[in-house]
Amino acid sequence: MPGIPMRSGGPKARIAVIPGDGIGTEVTPQAVKVLKAVAATANRPLEFVEFDWGADKYLREGITLPPGAVEMLRDEFDAILFGALGDPRVPSNQHAADILLGLRFKLDLYVNARPVELLHNRLTPLRDRTEKDIRLVVIRENTEGLYAGVGGFFKKGTPDEIAIQEDVNSRKGVERIIRYAFEHARQNGLKRLCMSDKSNAMTFAHGLWQRVFKELREEYTDIDSRHLYIDTLAMEIVRDPRQFDVIVTCNLFGDIISDLGAQLAGGLGLAPSGNIHPGKTSLFEPVHGSAPNLAGKGIANPLGSVLASAMMLDFLGWGPEANALRHAVRAALHENYVTPDLGGDKRTEEVGEWVAKKAGNKFAVQT
Ligand SMILES: NC(=O)c1ccc[n+]([C@@H]2O[C@H](COP(=O)([O-])OP(=O)(O)OC[C@H]3O[C@@H](n4cnc5c(N)ncnc54)[C@H](O)[C@@H]3O)[C@@H](O)[C@H]2O)c1
Repeated sequence: MPGIPMRSGGPKARIAVIPGDGIGTEVTPQAVKVLKAVAATANRPLEFVEFDWGADKYLREGITLPPGAVEMLRDEFDAILFGALGDPRVPSNQHAADILLGLRFKLDLYVNARPVELLHNRLTPLRDRTEKDIRLVVIRENTEGLYAGVGGFFKKGTPDEIAIQEDVNSRKGVERIIRYAFEHARQNGLKRLCMSDKSNAMTFAHGLWQRVFKELREEYTDIDSRHLYIDTLAMEIVRDPRQFDVIVTCNLFGDIISDLGAQLAGGLGLAPSGNIHPGKTSLFEPVHGSAPNLAGKGIANPLGSVLASAMMLDFLGWGPEANALRHAVRAALHENYVTPDLGGDKRTEEVGEWVAKKAGNKFAVQT
């Protein structure tokens, strides 16, 4: 996803690797392998430091996000490559909330960029749609909304129980995400932006989104911007995804609409995302979770993690290397060298090896 403001653009980069749980521990090493192959051919040093934060550590030591972790990541690393968190042995999901939501909030990663790009015609469930029809990005607010953790119970465990979850929307938070989306459109030559909310029903919270959007669109008259209610957007993105280049929305709606988008472009196994604060240490991960139903079988699709790594390289200012990763993923799809979720018969490691080799060679040819 070219055009994301960079962390450094320098010749070296230091990456923290957090594989996490389940298939996170299977796909992340494959992405690291691909990154190492490209870095070696490009002769640009990438340093990786792995952290074992996840369910095993939590169950063994009671530690989720260790003390000082946020400061260390912020001060000593350019980016974080993340796998997934979630384990049936931790039904509360406490470790995932502390680690992933903790990093998103404490590193103030306010942008969650989720590209939806069809890389091979056969992968979309939509009839008669092709690669050129499905190419958009969902920009999801990532630090506020219903995920801010503000709320509580009243009379918990009784028949009169009340549960309250507050929708937190700050003027600053709404303005910076909508501005980021407009800037992203402008920097990438994308002409259309859609802001989506539910301001007809959520009149207070999304009334703010409406006011900010109307103000900002006056500054970006070069972008064709419009508004759709989230329910209408959900229909329209399926009916005709060609209408959209950039979609910007709140935390909850962005979570849902980007999963819908992922299915339009081949499923969760292929979908990447970037949790970004422009210019600061940012976190890149596949959209999917830890998939306990697949964990340990060796057949999870590593391509979402590889595409997330490509977003990370863009963020680091390594454009040609990022393109080499995307080229290799496309090649795997075109040659059907893929895992069972995409109709292939290859294993996670086989796909990782193949893509690493292809990405390294492609980069050698380009330079
Ligand atoms: N960012 C994250 O860490 C994250 C995101 C979503 C869910 N989760 C957690 O993951 C756990 C499982 O959640 P879920 O089952 O709802 O979502 P999931 O994304 O783990 O899996 C949903 C479905 O997609 C399939 N799938 C996902 N990734 C795949 C891949 N790489 N290759 C092939 N198939 C793949 C799975 O087999 C499953 O059928 C839960 O604990 C949840 O909280 C974590």
